[in-house]
Amino acid sequence: MNEPSFFIDHIPIEGDLILAPMDGVTDLPFREICRQFGSAMSVTEFINALDVLEDHPRYHQRLAFTPSQRPMSLQILGNKPERMLEAAKRLVPAVNPDILDINLGCQSKNVTARGAGAALMKTPEKIAAIFQLMKSHFNLPISGKIRLGWDEDSLNYQEVARIIEENGGAMVAVHGRTRKQAYRGQARWEPIGEIKAALSIPVIGNGDVRTVADIEAIKKITGCDAVMIGRAAVGNPWLFSRLDREDVPPSVVHETCLKQLSDMLDFYGDRGVITFRKYLKAYLSPYSIPREELLPLMKSKDPQFIRQYLDAFFNSDSIR
Ligand SMILES: Cc1cc2nc3c(=O)[nH]c(=O)nc-3n(C[C@H](O)[C@H](O)[C@H](O)COP(=O)(O)O)c2cc1C
Repeated sequence: MNEPSFFIDHIPIEGDLILAPMDGVTDLPFREICRQFGSAMSVTEFINALDVLEDHPRYHQRLAFTPSQRPMSLQILGNKPERMLEAAKRLVPAVNPDILDINLGCQSKNVTARGAGAALMKTPEKIAAIFQLMKSHFNLPISGKIRLGWDEDSLNYQEVARIIEENGGAMVAVHGRTRKQAYRGQARWEPIGEIKAALSIPVIGNGDVRTVADIEAIKKITGCDAVMIGRAAVGNPWLFSRLDREDVPPSVVHETCLKQLSDMLDFYGDRGVITFRKYLKAYLSPYSIPREELLPLMKSKDPQFIRQYLDAFFNSDSIR
């Protein structure tokens, strides 16, 4: 076992780079790839408490993970503390996660309109209730993933982070934007440093980390225990090995594309090809492939066609 970088309660985390949860992106096969290259733990895409209580089939696949993905955190999204607890009571015994994470940052309108995700930051008393309920029912570390606040007039990240700690939370991950910003502008890292200075539990910094230099910069500015990387991991999961994309040999990109395609077909069946497209596009984006060449690839439903293209492309003299 490697020396842990830090602990989330009693759970050792071996590394300081972690794949951020992303709805529709960080499924089991992609998490597997990121773990292989060094992401130190795994988080599910958000699991909507309502889906669980209504037993909507869509959430089942989002819960799947392999033992090698532990420490595994299960992220719950909801607007009502009691309902979130009910959902967690069904999920925890069935899935046996290492950590329960509360989504306090989702910005999408249909989530926040009903008071869930980042909208919970407007009702800190609900956040306290969620952590108290979860803490009293489960013998698991409970963490929270927050933004800086709802908008510029309500930057209550310090209050929310303190509430999480005071109510038994074991870790806070902070995306350095408000809900109103969604993904616009530049993430601010200084407030993450303010949170780190004020809390004793681990703080994970997040937002716009795209390069190895960004990793070192956010760590230096915030003093955070670890860094979460979201969008930049799509196309560069090697960032978890502290490699910028231009430093990744094409042969490794080739091998990874084939592995992910194959893992996605295993996981999703035939529709895995379609799901794979967005990753493929990102893997190939540095090579400026002409549009007319890329288009048939991006429309293809035939894994063999994609494999043959990749083999020819990565074995061509121009790429090596
Ligand atoms: C497509 C997409 C889906 C996301 N889904 C989730 C989610 O399910 N749970 C969550 O806590 N954050 C979610 N996020 C936010 C990311 O975890 C992360 O905080 C954000 O992308 C900023 O980090 P980045 O700049 O490294 O991408 C999502 C972000 C994106 C782009």
